[in-house]
Amino acid sequence: MSDIYEDPGVLAEYLLFHYGTAEEILPPDVAWPEGMTEALDFAVRTTLHFSKHNVGRGLDLGCAVGRSTYEMSSSCSHVTGIDFSQAFIDAANALREGKAVGYVRRDEGHLATGLTAKLPEGIDPSKVSFLRGDAMALPIDIGAFDRVHAANLICRLTDPILLLDRFPELVNPGGELVLATPCTWLENFTAPKNWPPGDTLAWLQGHLGGAFELVKRADEPFLIRETARKFQWTRSMLTVWRRR
Ligand SMILES: C[S@@+](CC[C@H](N)C(=O)[O-])C[C@H]1O[C@@H](n2cnc3c(N)ncnc32)[C@H](O)[C@@H]1O
Repeated sequence: MSDIYEDPGVLAEYLLFHYGTAEEILPPDVAWPEGMTEALDFAVRTTLHFSKHNVGRGLDLGCAVGRSTYEMSSSCSHVTGIDFSQAFIDAANALREGKAVGYVRRDEGHLATGLTAKLPEGIDPSKVSFLRGDAMALPIDIGAFDRVHAANLICRLTDPILLLDRFPELVNPGGELVLATPCTWLENFTAPKNWPPGDTLAWLQGHLGGAFELVKRADEPFLIRETARKFQWTRSMLTVWRRR
């Protein structure tokens, strides 16, 4: 498994991606293209695809530094965030404990800006817990959830079928699964023999269609700032599935 998500520079990029303000990511002295501003707040937007009513347990797989986990807690009685990166889980937990997490935003060369991530207003951290774990080998006794969220995770797994095959028992009947993937299948994360043989959506339907009804498909762009002049702009394919 790749350990890029333990790298302090990548941790800083994800703290900015999940908790940075619009002004911190796209300073207002530049006329940024509209597509870039529309791509802000991805970790919030993906969770808005769940139904609006309150439910019981939620699960956020590949939660990184935890923003979507916290957002899901506004309509779940408890949400568990799981990620393989200890550095990401430590940052998510520090925020849960009310700490301000300092990080460095790279600007260019030796230039950098110190920033601080904190929990957004209105979040009740007692409704959230974080665990380091492997989404392909979740604990047997983890139980079932009313909502499961996995954003930009499946194309980072060595063997994504192991997770797809586990979803039916992870989601309660009538519960919802939100999957987002940019379909960026890469050899350094996933051996080509484990990539979808063709279209990722058809592959998902083939694996999930028996236990789940596909209720929605949408595109959600996201923006990860690397430096003041270099960004990753990517369009994730989001699908919402209801457990039969
Ligand atoms: C591309 S990031 C997406 C993070 C977050 N969901 C988001 O949308 O910003 C992929 C995340 O999956 C995590 N990850 C990779 N392999 C994993 C595994 N086997 N189990 C759990 N998490 C994993 C990484 O540590 C990283 O946080």
